[in-house]
Order: sequence, then C-alpha cells, then structure tokens
Amino acid sequence: MTSSSAVAVFVACDLPNSVQNLFTQRFRARCNDQGRTLTAAELLDGVQGMDVLVLTATDRLDAELVERLPDSVKVVCTYSIGLEHMDIEALKARGIAVLATPDVLSESCADTAFLLMLGAARRVVESSALVRSGEWTGWTPRQLLGVDVWGRRLGILGMGRIGQAIARRARGFGMTVHYHNRRRLEPQFEEDAIYHAGLGELAEHSDFLCIACPSSPETRGIVNGEILARLPAQAVVCNIARGDIIDDEALVAALISGKVAAAGLDVFAGEPDIHPAYRTLPNVFGLPHIGSSTESTRLAMGELLCDGITAFFAGRQPNNRIA
Ligand code: DGY
Repeated sequence: MTSSSAVAVFVACDLPNSVQNLFTQRFRARCNDQGRTLTAAELLDGVQGMDVLVLTATDRLDAELVERLPDSVKVVCTYSIGLEHMDIEALKARGIAVLATPDVLSESCADTAFLLMLGAARRVVESSALVRSGEWTGWTPRQLLGVDVWGRRLGILGMGRIGQAIARRARGFGMTVHYHNRRRLEPQFEEDAIYHAGLGELAEHSDFLCIACPSSPETRGIVNGEILARLPAQAVVCNIARGDIIDDEALVAALISGKVAAAGLDVFAGEPDIHPAYRTLPNVFGLPHIGSSTESTRLAMGELLCDGITAFFAGRQPNNRIA
C-alpha cells in the first residue's frame, strides 16, 4: 500500500490545465509541457522510474513500446474510452494494469451524437454558410429543405453505455430505437429498443444509422457499400465512435449519389488527414472529434483516473480498471 502523494505519475498527453492540476495536486506527477503529442522516445524518457503512465488515444502504445516500458510502471491510464491505440494483451502479459474513462463521458458523447444527427439532417453546414456569406435574401418556402429527426427510426450500432445514452435521448424525440450489438442487452437495459442480430438487418430499419461501437479488428470497415445499400432512402449516417468503422470510399459514393442524404461525422479515419471529400461535400456535417469535449466531462475523466490510481496503490480494485 502506497500513499497517493508518493505515487510517481508521468502524464504523457497534453491535458487541459485543470486536469493536469488534479494529477499534480494528488501525486508526484510530471506532465507533458510540450503542448503536443510526444514521440515514442520522449514518452519512454519521461516514464523512466515512474509508477504510472497516463496517455490518450493519440499516443500509440504498441507491443514493442510496451516491451520497452520500465519495470517501475505498474499502471497505464488512458484518458479516453477508446482503447484501440494500446496493445492490451501485451500490457496484460507484463502484468501492467490498465485504467480508462468509461461512463463519465457517455452523456456528453450522446449529446454530440444528437448534434451530428440534427446538424446533418437539417443541413447546418449549408445553412450556416448562407448566413455568414451575407447572401441570404430572406426566408422562402423552398430554402434548405432537410429531413426530420423526430419520429424516425434510429439504428444504433453498438449499444454500450454511449449507445444506451443515445437511445434515451431518441425516446424524447419520439424515435423508434433499433440496435445491433455483439450481444442482445438484458431487458432492463434494452427497454423498448429492437434488437437485430445482423448489421444488414439493422441498416434496413435505420432512417438514421448512428455508429457507437468500439473500433476493433471485427468492426473496422463494417459500414461498407453493402450495408449502405441496405439503408432506406434519405437515410443519414452518423459516427461518434471511430472513423475506421466506415468504408470512406463507399460512404462518399453514397453521399454523392444521394443514396445517403447526409452524414454527421465527429471522427474520421486517419485524423486529421481525412478523406478530402468530407471537407467539400455540402451534405457532410463534420466535427473535429469533440464527442466528450466539455469542461466538466474532461474534469470528470481526470478525476476518474486519479481515483483509480489511488485505489490501485491502496490495494483496492479501481472500478475503471479494464485490464
Ligand atoms: C475517447 O474517449 O475515446 C475519445 O474519442 C478521445 O479519443
């Protein structure tokens, strides 16, 4: 058992000042002061002699880097819900505990999912550009007709905590919720949502298809041309999860042909070097990966990691331990 103030923490990612303060007030913490993502060499240098490494989704911790972590490291914390940037099996093999930030960001991400749906469906990109251009000549009955969100069918791919938070909001919009998940939910979590065992079947029932599942070898590229072809006419595709779940060429083709009316995307494959069509297509409402970006959620993510570190070194099981 080690008191928190004796725990040495290297915060390798560039966290907001208020979150850095949480770490420095509680632990013997050193924070990234470069204002950018560290190189692997800088990360390894900074973590020498430390008990804990804190990183985020833009820091790659592959098996080779895990192998080179010093023996002093007992815990790796990711300031994210996504885990695809770390080799969890390699960390487990070295007996390093892994903490993440589940739950505390679900509601902010679900808000962003609705922002994406509304922004894409109601043509916010074109509407906002028109107001800013100074060329708006006034209201007309023909102007910028979009598609309704309320009362439509929402298909959620990935009914974890974020998916369920999206479903709760959807009920307030009078939407019928359909979902596809690795496993069907227990009735108390499913409520009135309709389960589909296959993604293609979900697509057929999705006026709005909202992606909220983790990126993994099983999900990469699964929203492909075949799935998009099964969507109803005028469907809207939204992504709050990870860009690589979508086959970009297929979505761009569907947006150009009109098969998909619009897309609301908070995440992109290869960020920030995104498919160029997403920068120019008028029916793409794109956001720069701001799913959980609120002051209070970012603080809550930091608090959850700090509490987890304290619990771990006090010999208790952190409730945000994922490996
Ligand atoms: C998350 O928490 O995974 C966010 O998408 C940041 O990467």
